[in-house]
Amino acid sequence: MKPRVVTLNVNGREHASALPANVTLLQALRGLGYTDVKNGCEKGDCGACAVLMNGAAVNSCMVLAWQADGAEIWTNAGLGNMEHPHPIQEAYADSGAVQCGYCTPGMIVATKALLDDNPNPSDDEIREALSGNLCRCTGYGLIIEAVHDAARRLQAPEEAEPEGGAA
Ligand code: FES
Ligand code: FES
Repeated sequence: MKPRVVTLNVNGREHASALPANVTLLQALRGLGYTDVKNGCEKGDCGACAVLMNGAAVNSCMVLAWQADGAEIWTNAGLGNMEHPHPIQEAYADSGAVQCGYCTPGMIVATKALLDDNPNPSDDEIREALSGNLCRCTGYGLIIEAVHDAARRLQAPEEAEPEGGAA
């Protein structure tokens, strides 16, 4: 298939690549080194590959790279890192919602999309928003707790800081 130049804006960095038309956004992102975007099923079932595309959570295995040409993409790694974690990432870690961690990048991206739209979701709204993200480890209860914790941190960050404040 004839390659075409696709420009992906990922975590604030622009990448122009010549890609065959059948390359998925998941394949393109992992090829660019964004390996925090996980390949779980490649058929839209698990949510491990979720990224934010122009603010909406999408399964990147179900988007062709050319369809994301010019779009603003954020992956979990772009939201925060070990030194400067995003409040959602802190909430997941502190709530024990990360076990093997394979689902976590997609869960965090889906949580960001939810809380951007609905800052104080109910349990049912969280379940609905994360229904496309599968986790083999946690039983989901700790993930729901993490989303509530993240909502609190985002609404009142100073109250959610541990004793001694944030680093
Ligand atoms: S890898 Fe995309 S939904 Fe499973
Ligand atoms: S923490 Fe292992 S799949 Fe979710």
